[in-house]
Amino acid sequence: MCSTRIPCGGCAAEFRTEFGTRYPNSRVAYASKAFVNPAIARIVAEEGLGLDVVSGGELAVARAADVPPDTIYFHGNNKTPEELEFALDYGIGQIVVDSFHELEVLDAIAGERGVRQDIMLRLSPGIDAHTHEKTTTGILDSKFGFSIETGDAAKAIRQAMSAANLDLVGIHFHLGSPIFELEPYELGVEVVLNYLTQFKEEGLRLEIFSPGGGFAIGYVRSEPPPQIAEYAESITKYTSRLCEELGFGTPLLVVEPGRSIVGRAGVALYTVGGIKDIPTVRKYVSLDGGMGDNIRPAIYGSEYEAVLASRMSAPPAEVVTLAGKYCESGDVLVKDITMPVVEPGDIIAIPSSGAYAPSMASNYNLNGRPAIVMAKDGDARLIRRRETYADMMMADVF
Ligand SMILES: Cc1ncc(COP(=O)(O)O)c(C=O)c1O
Repeated sequence: MCSTRIPCGGCAAEFRTEFGTRYPNSRVAYASKAFVNPAIARIVAEEGLGLDVVSGGELAVARAADVPPDTIYFHGNNKTPEELEFALDYGIGQIVVDSFHELEVLDAIAGERGVRQDIMLRLSPGIDAHTHEKTTTGILDSKFGFSIETGDAAKAIRQAMSAANLDLVGIHFHLGSPIFELEPYELGVEVVLNYLTQFKEEGLRLEIFSPGGGFAIGYVRSEPPPQIAEYAESITKYTSRLCEELGFGTPLLVVEPGRSIVGRAGVALYTVGGIKDIPTVRKYVSLDGGMGDNIRPAIYGSEYEAVLASRMSAPPAEVVTLAGKYCESGDVLVKDITMPVVEPGDIIAIPSSGAYAPSMASNYNLNGRPAIVMAKDGDARLIRRRETYADMMMADVF
């Protein structure tokens, strides 16, 4: 793969404005799983966003970039004791607890350190957000969150409120991603807030309320996403109304966009190599990247557009399939797309490649992961150099 160019999108500010003007006590926490490295984490902090991390590695990047720890939310369904210790030692704001085991381990770790740790609980509200089955997370059959339906959520809330060294300050849910509809958010807010009223008398403090992330972006022209303003309108309207009706006041509303911050900002560039024409069947155009730098088409059947970047004004001419260079027949980035006549050496650009492409990249076939260039207003700077063969052997022991 040639490189991924990540210009700094204006979406961070748009999220802040759209949520902040409608619901001033809100925070946008960038979901770093979409893609993070120190340069991106710095921008996130400069833009005044919080950070959602799901591993010690993401937390280490946040620390390397001096992200204020009190703006960090630590998610994940199986944080290790070492990761929890790291988080407590860094003084991170909230740990979003996802299992009974984690509640116990975290309580013990906080006790050993003589500290009290603020936590949130991730609930599973049993709502289908109509995403790909591999990216839906709010339904009953999910590894994430305490299920409302099974009674686990009630048990976890009571256990968290009585934990010796933990302060339950908020509730989180995340339905999946990308979510192209507004109704799942509205339903989620309604179901979860209504559910929580029964715990008010028992002392539940809802200082923070988070309906997660999952805001969709445009990958292909035929599936436009809602505007950020529309998501903001739905979520803030339902949160304000229900919190007022149910007596929860105005908790801090935390939304966690990931792909909608970096997705459209990333354009993947590939160089064309071999071309194989199978008359009446298919014409394969092979690229110098593929599933190692963007696994989404292979695992989710995700669709992308592509353009011939080296000759943008060339007229459309034929239907081709853009294949990767990895040793898998399923390594196809874009199937059956109309393109101009493509030649070896041409550059193909695939837009909307900023999220869950570099962050899910692998060294399969021992191909190095691509360089990443940040670009804005005609300036460009490298924020990740291309991986070398030596890099790929760095952890190996001879
Ligand atoms: C808890 C949580 N928050 C936020 C996100 C971000 O989703 P997206 O990048 O689609 O906005 C995810 C994605 O898996 C998530 O699990």
